[in-house]
Amino acid sequence: MIKSLRNQLVVALGMLVSVIGVVQGVSSYKLSQAGMSALLDLRLEQVATRLRDGFAEAIPQNPARGSQDDRDVVIVIWKTGESLPFRSTDPSLHFPRDAKAGFSNSSVNDESWRIYTRQDPTMTIQVAQRSSVRRELTQENAAMTLWPIAVLLPLMWIAVVFVVRRSLRRLNRLGLQVQAIDAGHLEALPTRGVPDEIAPFIHSINTMIERLARSIEAERKFIADAAHELRTPLTALQLQADNLAPHIVASNQDRFQELRHGIARSSKLIKQLLRLARADAPIDGNPMTRVDLAEVVTNAVADVLPIALQRGLDIGAEEMIDAHVRALETDIGMAVKNLVSNAVRYTPNGGIIDLRMRREGEMAWIDVIDNGPGIAEESLPRVFDRFFRANMDIEGSGLGLSIVKAIATRYGGDVTLKNRDDGQTGIVASIGFPVEEVRSAEHAAPIATDG
Ligand SMILES: Nc1ncnc2c1ncn2[C@@H]1O[C@H](COP(=O)(O)OP(=O)(O)OP(=O)(O)O)[C@@H](O)[C@H]1O
Ligand SMILES: [Mg+2]
Repeated sequence: MIKSLRNQLVVALGMLVSVIGVVQGVSSYKLSQAGMSALLDLRLEQVATRLRDGFAEAIPQNPARGSQDDRDVVIVIWKTGESLPFRSTDPSLHFPRDAKAGFSNSSVNDESWRIYTRQDPTMTIQVAQRSSVRRELTQENAAMTLWPIAVLLPLMWIAVVFVVRRSLRRLNRLGLQVQAIDAGHLEALPTRGVPDEIAPFIHSINTMIERLARSIEAERKFIADAAHELRTPLTALQLQADNLAPHIVASNQDRFQELRHGIARSSKLIKQLLRLARADAPIDGNPMTRVDLAEVVTNAVADVLPIALQRGLDIGAEEMIDAHVRALETDIGMAVKNLVSNAVRYTPNGGIIDLRMRREGEMAWIDVIDNGPGIAEESLPRVFDRFFRANMDIEGSGLGLSIVKAIATRYGGDVTLKNRDDGQTGIVASIGFPVEEVRSAEHAAPIATDG
């Protein structure tokens, strides 16, 4: 079964055109054959009529052999009472003298002939022509009528493909727009110029998009509100714990520290939840600036430098390029920091982390490459899911990459996470944004610690 509407239409219309073409071709072939046959018969009849009018004597008595044109007719004239023909243009042929008057088909010398016999009181006139010659003539003539169809048929197919494609182009464009709809891109489809047949679909899709956007926004607001509401009691809890600290007896210290750790972890989770809710929210109103990506990279490295030094990690930025993005500065900074902090968190002590920038068309990319353990291939597709953690041994809320994804989507960018393919273990985390402009080529600005 053909799934594509376009192919279905092309095949159906093409077949229809072909059937019409074939029927037309066959009928004109047959008609032309019949017409030609009638014309040839008429010619035989005319020759016979002329001979009756006294032209019979004009035929030589002993025609030279071979002078007879293959395609031409053979004439035999009998006089009443005589057993041999009075005249014959080809004496080697013996036509049946008693053939019925009018047209008949007869086999003479193993060949089929079309004969016109005219019985007059004084003579019998026979004008004959080879059936094979007649067939050749009628077929030649009929074949000529097939030429226009043979030329037109492929042209009709091309026209069908062209017309169908043109008509469905708008549908294809709409299809692509529908395909682009996702949680991060919920815009109503354009309704102007849409064919009447698909307008109801577009209308329902738009209603659905509206409803979806509203429920996503409600969910985001709920998360933001819940996180916000939880922040105050947690801060109070933390304060209480701090006040309580000097009064905890030594035997309870372990359990007390666990309690404080739990409170800290919850605070972190709530902070990440708030960040995610903010990254998902519409930008409206907040002033966007021209953010220098190289500066963002430098800052992200500087931020983790103390921990990196402490853990003996060699972190450096190289291959910097001049690229700017129009965005909220805090967003871009947070996205890159999340990737760098993942690299720092999941790379064992003494590891190497490199930050690189590259340009690909309209996008500027920042790669964060570590030589940690990497991520199991089956877990990779889920790393951008909320609360997903591939490694349960190391503490984390599982929201960092969801925040990065939300920020990348917000500016029409993208983020990818792959295991290294250069023979080493580790992750290449890349975030790309459409650049506002890139001026000069690469200039090195290495910041490095010796691990
Ligand atoms: N560079 C990396 N190397 C190895 N695993 C990684 C790396 N980056 C991310 N991961 C894995 O992907 C999971 C999801 O990362 P994500 O940043 O979303 O959450 P998190 O780091 O656990 O928590 P959060 O960032 O919210 O504090 C992590 O739990 C970790 O298992
Ligand atoms: Mg993280």
